[in-house]
Order: sequence, then structure tokens, then C-alpha cells
Amino acid sequence: EQEIAAAHIGNAAELEQFRITYIGRKGQIAALFDDLKLVAPEQRRQVGQDLNRLKNLAQEKLEQAQEQLAATTADTAETSFDFSLPPVPGTLGTRHPLSLVRNEIVRIFERIGFNVSEGPEMEDDWHNFTALNFPENHPAREMQDTFFLSQDRDKLLRTHTSTVQVRLMEMQKPPLRSIMPGRVYRNEAISARAHMVFHQVEGLYVDKNVSFADLKQTLYYFAKELFGQDTKVRFRPSFFPFTEPSAEIDISCLICKGEGCNICKGSGWVEIGGSGMVDPNVLQNCGIDPEAYSGFAFGMGIERITMLKYQIKDLRLFTENDVRFLKQFEGVI
Ligand code: PHE
Repeated sequence: EQEIAAAHIGNAAELEQFRITYIGRKGQIAALFDDLKLVAPEQRRQVGQDLNRLKNLAQEKLEQAQEQLAATTADTAETSFDFSLPPVPGTLGTRHPLSLVRNEIVRIFERIGFNVSEGPEMEDDWHNFTALNFPENHPAREMQDTFFLSQDRDKLLRTHTSTVQVRLMEMQKPPLRSIMPGRVYRNEAISARAHMVFHQVEGLYVDKNVSFADLKQTLYYFAKELFGQDTKVRFRPSFFPFTEPSAEIDISCLICKGEGCNICKGSGWVEIGGSGMVDPNVLQNCGIDPEAYSGFAFGMGIERITMLKYQIKDLRLFTENDVRFLKQFEGVI
């Protein structure tokens, strides 16, 4: 009796131990009941009553301890969590800076009637080169260090998003006004300025009487919308097999504002892409009559634009997934 009264039950394990020791079917009280038959018949009644008292005592102690334990666990739960507080807002992730800029580019062009088209990253020779007027065995094909996926060089990772121009012109009739953002691949050494996987956004406008003036005005509008109204745009004569005439697109360096820095290498200008009038051969290859239609196209690097916009000096940050870098774009949409 004293033993039962003195037993300490402080946690669930001790509670269970107490139950097994005294109350369980193999416990001490059960054993005493078993021994009742050894007691002389005239004493059996008295001893039986004593044993029942003992059993009730143990049972009471168990129930008390159970109640107490339940109360203390509820207590700690209550103090560590206040159910009356309003819910904690869930923490959101951040958008990747390249996605932010891609979305912004899409919004800017959507305002002047461009829609968005997409194409596969694994391409064939036709869409990446031949339809785009790259001559067979011509060194121009080597301009872009291609990852070929098959021995016959007919399966490859697209080196530019101009492949989507071809697909769009093959599938739809003019007027066409579309931009085509996407991932492209080139076999280049990874550095602060180059990567073997990066993003471009292509633009294509094909209709009757589209002129170089339309191309220039479209890109002026774009640059000012994205980088601010003070931004200047410069076109430099260039060459691409799929455009004629062709021009490189430069914008005034926003980081040094013309003072000369290591992003623009002191020139005050940064190249963001290429452009030109769609070569009549390309229109023809894609089933569009070059006598009836003309068009312009441009292609820009999204990494380069993002670096300028957010003053990021190392391209590798985009792919390293350093949370400290990504967190800097918290709240930007
Ligand atoms: N496809 C070219 C490149 O990747 C860019 C470009 C696109 C140039 C469209 C002219 C017209 O370098």
C-alpha cells in the first residue's frame, strides 16, 4: 500500500511501468489475488476485501497520474502556440531575375501587339541553319559552336531562338508579330561573361511593307520602356545569314552613363543583340512570298539585359542558385 502511494509517475513511460507492475494481468496485485486460494477459508473474506482496496488504490493513483500528465502536456502546448493569433503569412519564394526580365520583355512587346511563341530546344539542321540561309558547309555555321546530338549533325541543341521564327513562318500566314523567349546552347567555356546555356528572346514581324524604320522604332520603344526614357539605341552594321541588311543593337551603358566602365569597356555602349530585315531566301524557305511580304527580326540575350538592368557583373550567378543572390529579388514582380 505504501509502495503504491509513494510511486512516482512523472511521464508517460513511468505511467505505463506503474500499470504493468501493479494493475496488469501479470502485475503484483493479480499475483496476490492468485494466492488468495492459499489463505485459510475463515480469513479469505477479509484478505479479499483488503486486496480489492489495494486494487482500487492503484487504479485511482493511475487515473490521477493520467489526468495530471494530460494537463501538463496541454499546458506546454498552450504556452508555445497561441491559437488566438492571426495566421502567420506564408513566406513566398522569389522569382528568378531572368524570369523577371523575360516577363517584363513580354509585357512590353504585348503592349504593341506582339504575342509569344515557343519551340523545342532540341532541333534539327533545317530549323537552326538551312532554312535560315546558312549555306551548306559554310563557315557561318561555325560562328555558333553547336552541340550536336547525332553523328550526322541533324540533331542538335538550338544555338539561337531564330529556329522559332522558322517554325512560326512555316505554320502561320502573315501578318506575324511575335516574340520568342527561350533557352539556347553553345559550346563555350563558362566565365563571368559567357555560358554554355543562356536565354534569348527573338522577335519577328512579317507583313506587307515592313521597313527598317519599323525595326528601329520598335527597338527604340523597347529600350526606353525597359531601361528608361534616357536610354539611347545605336545600330551597327553587321552580318547574319538570315537578315539583310543586318545590324547589331547597342544601348547606352546605364551603369557608367557613358563615363566608361568595365561592362562597356569604356565605350559607353553595350551590345544587347542582333537584328535585320528578314532575308527573302528565309521567307521563301518558310513558304512566304518575298514579293508580297517583308519583315524584320531581332534576337537579344536575356542574361545580358538582366545584368545591365540589375547591375550584375557575373553571369554565373544566374545558374549557381545561391540563395543570398536570389533573395535580393524578393518582392520584385
Ligand atoms: N540569332 C542571332 C544570334 O543568335 C541574333 C539575331 C536574331 C540576329 C534575329 C538577327 C535577327 O546571334
